[in-house]
Amino acid sequence: MRTGEPYGSGGSLLISRRELATRIDELAADISSRYASQERPLVCISVLKGATFFLADLIRALSIDVAVDFMSISSYAASGPDSGVVRIIKDVDEDIAGRDVLLVENIVDTGLTLTYLRRTLLARQPRSVATVTLLDKSARRIVPVPIEYAGFEIPDVFVIGYGLDHQALYRNVPDIFEVPDIAALRKDPALLVTSLFGSQRD
Ligand code: PRP
Repeated sequence: MRTGEPYGSGGSLLISRRELATRIDELAADISSRYASQERPLVCISVLKGATFFLADLIRALSIDVAVDFMSISSYAASGPDSGVVRIIKDVDEDIAGRDVLLVENIVDTGLTLTYLRRTLLARQPRSVATVTLLDKSARRIVPVPIEYAGFEIPDVFVIGYGLDHQALYRNVPDIFEVPDIAALRKDPALLVTSLFGSQRD
C-alpha cells in the first residue's frame, strides 16, 4: 500500500510501517553518534502511553546502551485542555542529576506537554536534556519548544496507529493513518476497527 492511499472506510495511510522503520533507524544512528562517547548511559524517558511504541523500536535500533524510564501525567481538567497545567501521576525512578536525558515523544502538538516535561526535568540538574519526537505537528504549536530530533513533520490532521489512539482504540495498528472524517469517528469510536484490523497490509 502506498502512503496517502485510501484504506478501508474513512482512514488513509499516512506513514507506513516500512517508512517508520527506515526513519527510526536514521534517528537512532544520529542519537547513537551524539551520545557514543558519554561516560554514563543516556537516560531515555518516555511519557505513557502512546510514546512507548516508538520508544521500544527506537532504543532497539541504538548502538549504545541506555537506561529507560517512564512518566505518566494528566491534565487538570478544571484548567482546560490547552492550559498546560498537568500533574505527575508517575514520576521517573532514575535520579537524573548529572545525566544526559533524552525525552522520547510520539507527537508534539501544542508543545504544552513537552514544555512542562522539559521544565520539570531541567529543574533536577541533568547534564543535558534533548527531545526526540516521531511526529511533529508544528502547525498546532502554541508554545515554541526545542526539538533536537524529529521523525516526520505532519500536517494538522487527526492521526491514529503506532501508539496514537482515539478513545483507547487503534494504538496497536502498526502503521499511522490519517482520519479525514473525525466527526464520524467521534460518533462511532470503533468505526475503523474492522478496516484497520480486518485485512492484510504489507
Ligand atoms: C500525546 C503525546 C504527548 C502529547 C502532546 O499524548 O504523547 O505527550 O499528546 O500534545 P501537546 O503537544 O498538545 O501537549 P496523549 O495526551 O495523547 O496521551 P496518550 O499517549 O496516553 O494517549
